[in-house]
Amino acid sequence: MLKTPDVLLLLCLVGAANALYKQWIPDTNYENKTNWDKGAVPCGNDIVQFSAQRKVSVFVETTHAVQEMKFPVDGEFILNSGAGFYVVAGQDPSCGQGVVTQFKDSDSLQWFNPALWQAAATLDDLQRGNFLFSVHEESVPCQYDDVVFKALSSFSVDTSSSQSSIPVKSVSVQGKVFDSRSEFSQYLSSRSGQLQFHGSSAVTVGNPGCGDPTGCDCGNSVNHQRICSSVKCASLNCKKPLLPVGHCCEVCGAIVTIQYAAGFNLQTYRQRIYQLFLALPKYKSIQLGMSKVFKSQRLMGIIPFGTSPEIQVAIVDGEKGTLSENLARDIVNDVDSHGSNFGITGAGFQASSGSSSESWRWCRVGVPSLPSLPSMPSMPSMPSLSSLKRNTDIGELGGPLDHGFENPMFDKPEMLPDILEAKAINSISMTQTGVYYINPVYDENETDFNA
Ligand SMILES: *[C@@H]1O[C@H](CO)[C@@H](O)[C@H](O)[C@H]1NC(C)=O
Ligand SMILES: *[C@@H]1O[C@H](CO)[C@@H](O)[C@H](O)[C@H]1NC(C)=O
Repeated sequence: MLKTPDVLLLLCLVGAANALYKQWIPDTNYENKTNWDKGAVPCGNDIVQFSAQRKVSVFVETTHAVQEMKFPVDGEFILNSGAGFYVVAGQDPSCGQGVVTQFKDSDSLQWFNPALWQAAATLDDLQRGNFLFSVHEESVPCQYDDVVFKALSSFSVDTSSSQSSIPVKSVSVQGKVFDSRSEFSQYLSSRSGQLQFHGSSAVTVGNPGCGDPTGCDCGNSVNHQRICSSVKCASLNCKKPLLPVGHCCEVCGAIVTIQYAAGFNLQTYRQRIYQLFLALPKYKSIQLGMSKVFKSQRLMGIIPFGTSPEIQVAIVDGEKGTLSENLARDIVNDVDSHGSNFGITGAGFQASSGSSSESWRWCRVGVPSLPSLPSMPSMPSMPSLSSLKRNTDIGELGGPLDHGFENPMFDKPEMLPDILEAKAINSISMTQTGVYYINPVYDENETDFNA
């Protein structure tokens, strides 16, 4: 156990380290023209309507002239200081012809729609628009995130889900931060709270932040389907689209998989990658999301038999993925030369061009070029199946090696030919990136491979 001062220090680091802020984008503000069916904020000659049944909380920042206004039966205006409405006598020369304009219905905006959130590492970044890219599951607030509804703003969010509650660390509304469960549930039952939050699940605050410097699991995989139901995947034209864990769509880009040990700090490493690479002009168009994921280990690529945590770096560049691949190489090379300083034990990547690379510090991985599959069982570089198994135990390689030979079945040597036979047909396409296996006698000079 750590002594008290260490614990405090650790908590401080963690507090700063893993609090991601997720901000809800849409608003129900009077001044936002996207909230009006005519696409413009009403002016002095306009007749303003709120549909009678609409339950809405509208934030009004300034003073507005109107011709006439029909209020909702059940709703509220939150007036900024000095804000209000007045009726213009006669024509307002600064306004057009005068139209009937209706406040749009935004009842159906879902909490679990990843497009409606933006993420940042700090509140400052949130304000400056330094947003972080995330896989879809993590675009929606994770269980240890701080949720922000903009100050000087109101909103309407449907929190329906299959779970009874949506736990988060804190929620801030109108600039007030709620991190006490009872205080926030009191807010939810207030008039504003009821108009802003509706749906079957209750948002609960007071969840502890992420206490693990190596990162925490977002916790949104239980809502994967709900999250993905609002996502439309773009059509892709790269050779080998990739599906990052937690994402709804395949992407053209690259996925770096990082294995870590004690001493790894996700936030520190994220900063390193941003400063070292993403700040470079050549990587300006890159979107990079880094998080701890639990990748399910699959037997024969089909039967799940467990999960292992690893750091996933999903890289997307909006084109064919060439830029992403360059960055993935840079990251793996960096791990190669400096990874041990950061508690990183190995890294590898897959790119949608079809190439890939491994750099495993503690157990070497060979990527042989395979002229043809039938020759595999007799390949000289596969001398001992039992030693393959031994290295597997050390490695937990998961990740890009999913189709590889870290398979526990391989400690039954007699099964190997069958497996190869069974896979002989699809392993060609499946291994555009090369076939991987852990080779204990592989040349120690080689750390970076291209298939
Ligand atoms: C207005 O609403 C849209 C859509 O909800 C949002 O994207 C935009 O940021 C809002 N505008 C401002 C100024 O907040
Ligand atoms: C590894 O590198 C050393 C020095 O560069 C070289 O002498 C040796 O032959 C290499 N080993 C293999 C197996 O290629």
